[in-house]
Amino acid sequence: MMDRGVGLGRLPQMPEVELAAPAKINLHLEILGRDGRGFHVLETVFQTLELADTVRVAHDPGGSGTRLEVRGCPGLDAGSGNLAWRAAEVFRGLRPDLGRVAITLVKRLPLGGGLGGGSSDAAAVLRALSRMHPAPPTPCEIEVLAAGLGSDVPFFLRGGTVWATGRGIELAPLADLPPRPVWLLLPPCACPTPAVFAALTEAERGPRTARGAAHFAAGDAWLAQPHNRLAAASRRAQPALAPWLDWAGASGVPCILCGSGSTIAFFAEPPAPPPGARLIATRFRPRNRD
Ligand code: C5P
Repeated sequence: MMDRGVGLGRLPQMPEVELAAPAKINLHLEILGRDGRGFHVLETVFQTLELADTVRVAHDPGGSGTRLEVRGCPGLDAGSGNLAWRAAEVFRGLRPDLGRVAITLVKRLPLGGGLGGGSSDAAAVLRALSRMHPAPPTPCEIEVLAAGLGSDVPFFLRGGTVWATGRGIELAPLADLPPRPVWLLLPPCACPTPAVFAALTEAERGPRTARGAAHFAAGDAWLAQPHNRLAAASRRAQPALAPWLDWAGASGVPCILCGSGSTIAFFAEPPAPPPGARLIATRFRPRNRD
């Protein structure tokens, strides 16, 4: 924790914590069925990446209210439509004495890219506030807050390589994979997650049997055949994605759509993409150490 601003002649500033809010990809994503509450039952393997937003949270126990400043993403909601702001407010629901919270979000992750940027920002806010509050909620209470914010948020509290099932919030951590390089192709279109799930065919919705965490814990041979059941639905929900998926498939490089799209992750360096898309090189990131 940085505790700045105690110098003579300066106004005291609020203590602050700065955390990386990493991107994730899904190394495997299968649909097992539906849960009857509007969600699909998944079997997935999450993996955090070094590519990350930066989340700075300053806290003044004597003040009040939540303020969010967003840098690097013009037009992104800086109020209740932003999961980072909502994370501070749900924490306040549990600790009404929270005081003033000032969040600065430096965005690097694209929106609607399936990299979990909003969820990761929200998890970073929960982690930062837990570090700063004199009576932090228990890890279990924080997980419940995270699950209420979105299906990917609980995973980001820990990060690394994690097997997940249910809505995506029943987690079994796997050993960190080595820091393999990944190339992210960012097509110039977004895929809204609810629209992609809505575009699934009945056959794609299952039911299917899970492989189980043990399958993914036993080596990484399964990584040679990355599988994402959402890819066809993403193509239907966002037709502008189709040429990029076709290009990726024709490249011959092992690759997978990230979550519900639109980012495509390559496990070896792909050829230079056609104009219109960005290519970002990054690597697997191990779990958070706090
Ligand atoms: O939980 P989250 O807000 O990320 O989910 C967004 C939407 O994605 C849900 O409202 C639902 O339509 C769909 N979804 C789903 N099954 C999941 C996760 C998300 O159907 N396991």
